[in-house]
Amino acid sequence: MSLDTLKAALAAVPDPMIFIDGAGLIAEANPAAEALFGTWIMRRSYVAALRQPALIDRIEAVSRGVEGGDVRFTKPDPAGETVFRVRVTPMTFEDKSTGVLLHFSDVSHLQDAEEMRRDFVANVSHELRSPLTALMGFIETLRGPAREDAEVRDHFLSIMEEQSSRMNRLVGDLLSLSRVESEERLRPSEDVDLNALVNGVVVTLRPQAEDQGSALTIAAEPGDYTIRGDRDQLTQVFMNLAENALKYGGAGRPVTLALHAGEGRGALKGPVVTVDVIDRGNGIEALHLPRLTERFYRVDSHRSREMGGTGLGLAIVKHIVNRHRGRLKISSEKGRGSTFSVTLPRS
Ligand SMILES: Nc1ncnc2c1ncn2[C@@H]1O[C@H](COP(=O)(O)OP(=O)(O)O)[C@@H](O)[C@H]1O
Ligand SMILES: [Mg+2]
Repeated sequence: MSLDTLKAALAAVPDPMIFIDGAGLIAEANPAAEALFGTWIMRRSYVAALRQPALIDRIEAVSRGVEGGDVRFTKPDPAGETVFRVRVTPMTFEDKSTGVLLHFSDVSHLQDAEEMRRDFVANVSHELRSPLTALMGFIETLRGPAREDAEVRDHFLSIMEEQSSRMNRLVGDLLSLSRVESEERLRPSEDVDLNALVNGVVVTLRPQAEDQGSALTIAAEPGDYTIRGDRDQLTQVFMNLAENALKYGGAGRPVTLALHAGEGRGALKGPVVTVDVIDRGNGIEALHLPRLTERFYRVDSHRSREMGGTGLGLAIVKHIVNRHRGRLKISSEKGRGSTFSVTLPRS
């Protein structure tokens, strides 16, 4: 190969690529590299043009014939920084001249995914640890001081039961989240009558609503509410939303599930069905709204835990709605209540 053929080849590569000649000057930078570094780098020394020690050391080593390989390179930009993995490869041309080829691949997205994974593991461990610590403490006490006292024993056992159900709910929600995530790209294929489904949810939750003195009702205009969906997952969506409305809406406050069919706009163009889950609780401050569907995000984590929440409900809802190519919209007014609105395309 000659330098000219190399130039032509590099021009066709979408990633930034740079060729450094035997004299240590930048002999070629493809359009993506020029966009990244600027056109001024042509014919400059690579030390001046690239500046980062790790990369410069590696290029130097490769040109001495020591070793090729990858090195990280970060480029600050207005939105933070872009992280590249740079492959540094030695080259020899037909005329025996040599040089070093750099290939930059953008790995920022991998970086983000890795960070999310680490956060998630830390969160799960944290959530499991407190009930586990409580359980261990009570086992200890039951073995020792409380051994002979039947009343204390019963009291501790009931707390232990509560803590283990909390762990059980958490594990259940984690499994459900991972199942929903793995199916997210699979299109649902059942015909589901949303009106009947939402009725089922209301019947299931009615005893809980009555216990807390909240009226739980459905409002549906007459019409056809059949959509293409996954029955179990959609049941999970409306169970989660209605349970939240009851829990966070508060005792004695009504909860309504309102259905209407209509025409969608924008990305949801075509016939759609919308279900609004409306509560008359204290509402949610605007700053929390965009984050509610993040895993483990809670407005008041103490209150959520006290009510048996895992902080995963809305994350699961969001994934299921995405799988159905629908949209979840949350609106809330402090002191007046919240509406969680799910819009689903009919086919
Ligand atoms: N209807 C609602 N009214 C007020 N806050 C709500 C409502 N629904 C959800 N939230 C807030 O969103 C958080 C996340 O909800 P979710 O993911 O279902 O978790 P969980 O209910 O397990 O805490 C809750 O902890 C609560 O702070
Ligand atoms: Mg919930």
